[in-house]
Amino acid sequence: MKGNVLKHEIFTLAWAQAWAGQLNRNPHYRSAAQKWEWPLILILEKDPAHGLPENREIYLDLWHGECREARPAEGNDLQEAPYIISAPLPVWQEILAGQADPMMALTRGRLKLRKGNLLKLARYTQAAKQLLASAVQVETAFPVNLPAVTATAPPPEIASAASHRFATTSPGGLRQDILPMRLYHKAKKFGIWNPQDIDLQRDREDWQSLSDLEKEVLLHLTALFQGGEEAVTLDLLPLIMVIAKERRIEEELYLTTFLWEEAKHTEFFRRFLDEVARNHSDLTRFHGPAYQRIFYEALPAAMNALLNDPSPAAQARASATYNMIVEGTLAETGYHAYYAMLERNDLLPGLREGITYLKRDESRHIAYGIYLLSRLVAREPALWEVLEKHMAIMLEHALATITELFDTYEVIPFGLKLEDFIEYALDQFNKRMNRIENARYQRPEAIDALTEDD
Ligand SMILES: [Fe+2]
Ligand SMILES: [Fe+2]
Repeated sequence: MKGNVLKHEIFTLAWAQAWAGQLNRNPHYRSAAQKWEWPLILILEKDPAHGLPENREIYLDLWHGECREARPAEGNDLQEAPYIISAPLPVWQEILAGQADPMMALTRGRLKLRKGNLLKLARYTQAAKQLLASAVQVETAFPVNLPAVTATAPPPEIASAASHRFATTSPGGLRQDILPMRLYHKAKKFGIWNPQDIDLQRDREDWQSLSDLEKEVLLHLTALFQGGEEAVTLDLLPLIMVIAKERRIEEELYLTTFLWEEAKHTEFFRRFLDEVARNHSDLTRFHGPAYQRIFYEALPAAMNALLNDPSPAAQARASATYNMIVEGTLAETGYHAYYAMLERNDLLPGLREGITYLKRDESRHIAYGIYLLSRLVAREPALWEVLEKHMAIMLEHALATITELFDTYEVIPFGLKLEDFIEYALDQFNKRMNRIENARYQRPEAIDALTEDD
């Protein structure tokens, strides 16, 4: 058939059927969507100026990894289908060119979920990916060809504060007004708690009173945190080196507190394991494949890449992985889980006290990450696209890590529900992404005025 490929116009019967054909030949979709059993309606929104006088709506009957029917929606389809997703032509065009990640587009509201539950969809990111990967295979004609989005050329590299003078012996001295400096002062006040001073006496008694399942779930969550804190302690140095090479002294002052705090977090969880759980088994067994992808692979890869490539794009990937995903999405959701388990049951007060300090430290870390990413994006707006792509991949791993924890247990103790945590994680993620996205439209100097409340 090569050389004679028939193009089908987007969101027509022939196009939908060609898509269904691709889908039913896609073994990855079949296995990823094994548990999916709901019809889905996709809407191409009307746009009379571009040859689309009416909405076009496609109905897909998806059942356990198979597409049983694909056709324009009719009759009661719109009322009955549990999931409806719509978007204008440029968004579909980008998605069908394989340039946008479906889950990210849904999370960020570019693909609008008109009906259905985003949290439920979040459990099927692989299936959604494969669903669209099959659509990408269809030779698609568009009613009008919109110009492709081209990335603007990045401005020349910032001269890396290249003067070899020392800031502190120059007339300007230290810049007290910028966020990293304010975070540094805060860290000296609030980051000085000592993990060894926390009283764990009642925790030891409480631990004895927990059921085996409760102990196991707490141990599981702690094993994720323990590995995570060690990973961020080990992996931060390349970023500090880049910042030092750029002679950003105020940021480096702050980063000295950052690394010290991660060290204490690592110490604190190990103290809990040693003295409360008294567990010296190999807790690696709790590190599932999704967790490993982030903490064993993506995080060290993104951070160590800075050793050879200190470019703004590499810095953005490093900070996005470290500050936005590991700290901003996973750790924050983890604290939320600890609180949900312990606070309402008034358990393990020492652990809760430590986590309160830790959370305060982390909010400064995340504020620094938002500052760094905003600074990079304001200087080079085209970086936003690099960032968005990277975040789409990482968000998927993050959601899989949360799901992986819950899927381990048939019954989750303490009344925990997966949906609450996915919702919380997506909320945190979106809040931060919105702040960084704002930086695209700001002058670099405006970033200096950022505040820490993220
Ligand atoms: Fe930490
Ligand atoms: Fe941190």
